[in-house]
Amino acid sequence: MRPGARDLDGFNDAQLAAQARARDLAARLLAPGTAARDRSEGFPTEALLGLGEAGLMGVNLPADLGGRAAGAVGYALAVRELAAACAGTAVGMMVTNMVAEAIDKFGDDAQRRRWIPRITKGEWPAAGFSLSEPDAGSDAGGLKATAVRRGDHYVLDGTKSWVTSGGHAGLYLVMASTDPAARTRGISAFLVPATAPGLTATKPEDKMGLRSSATTQLVLEGVRVPVADRLGPEGIGFKVAMNALDGGRVGVSAQACGIATAAFELLLDVARREGVAGREALLADSAAELEAGWLMCLRAARMKDAGVRFSKEAAMTKLYCSEMAGRVCERALQAHGTAGELAAAERLLRDTRINRIYEGTSEVQRLVIAREVLRGVG
Ligand code: CAA
Repeated sequence: MRPGARDLDGFNDAQLAAQARARDLAARLLAPGTAARDRSEGFPTEALLGLGEAGLMGVNLPADLGGRAAGAVGYALAVRELAAACAGTAVGMMVTNMVAEAIDKFGDDAQRRRWIPRITKGEWPAAGFSLSEPDAGSDAGGLKATAVRRGDHYVLDGTKSWVTSGGHAGLYLVMASTDPAARTRGISAFLVPATAPGLTATKPEDKMGLRSSATTQLVLEGVRVPVADRLGPEGIGFKVAMNALDGGRVGVSAQACGIATAAFELLLDVARREGVAGREALLADSAAELEAGWLMCLRAARMKDAGVRFSKEAAMTKLYCSEMAGRVCERALQAHGTAGELAAAERLLRDTRINRIYEGTSEVQRLVIAREVLRGVG
């Protein structure tokens, strides 16, 4: 079932092309290896390079930078297709798009021309986003990594955590403090190539889900970063990160919808094979919740495309879709029992669990929503 693919939604050609391209690649490049990568924790290098070659690493970027100009809606459509086939590969693509967009939005022309085509044209399998630290997750403003200016460069030191595609990305967007006393207003953003001396990605975490996505720490030991590779002025790194995460949360919500779509298809298989009797609630509740979540996702994406503030809508769709996908995957597992598709249902349930945690936990989304509604936004 693809509720979002109906003509009723009024998708334009660029959006539909992004969706069609993602659907084709999902079937050919991603799906055949999903179960094996989950077992072996095999990183999907070939699949990610294929997505880059197909222009899916800059879905929302202009064509002259190697993008597809399909907007946040095109991006959501593509992510949903990819995540339904392999959520671990999808997250690598999502974070890469997030980094490319942040460079487009906050970078100067030289930075845009230097870095974005290398991301969008698939020179590297991925780009990485590095905000969290061992002691600064939800309280991202409490990060401790430092960037000290020495003439024409900065020296970065610290340990970053939960870096998607760590050890495989060609470029990292790293948030570090240039003025620790100023807290969030003292954080700056840096573009750091993976080859920078002093930067080490640790062994990937042994995760419950998204096992094909490498998640590492980044250890920064005296990493020299030219001033020209600071993204935006000093002190706006927290805003760069929050802005990127607003868009990222729409992506996570589309990813959750993709995982829920795959789980729903498993539910449909059971009902077709063994009958609907007794399974009406499983099917109906899942169909209705998936539709609601997808519409929330599209609304947040449309607001982003319209250039209006969408922090609240991004948080709402991220909160709802992550929790919704958990319920749909639970039902798929419950319905399958010991039937043949159990392994797929089990993997989907493991894969979706992180949706409630990364790019801001459900608790952080509630905090953002509560603050925004109290401020009278929306
Ligand atoms: N866009 C732009 N600016 C924003 C913003 C937004 N959405 N949200 C906040 N800001 C600005 C504020 O306006 C404020 O600016 P001023 O100093 O000029 O007033 C500044 O940022 C500080 O804002 P807050 O006072 O709201 O900051 P806070 O310390 O209270 O933190 C928070 C708020 C919402 C809890 C934030 O820390 C947060 O989002 N935490 C979760 C972090 C997160 O999502 N991490 C995920 C990392 S990535 C990952 O998961 C792995 C992966 O790659 C897949």
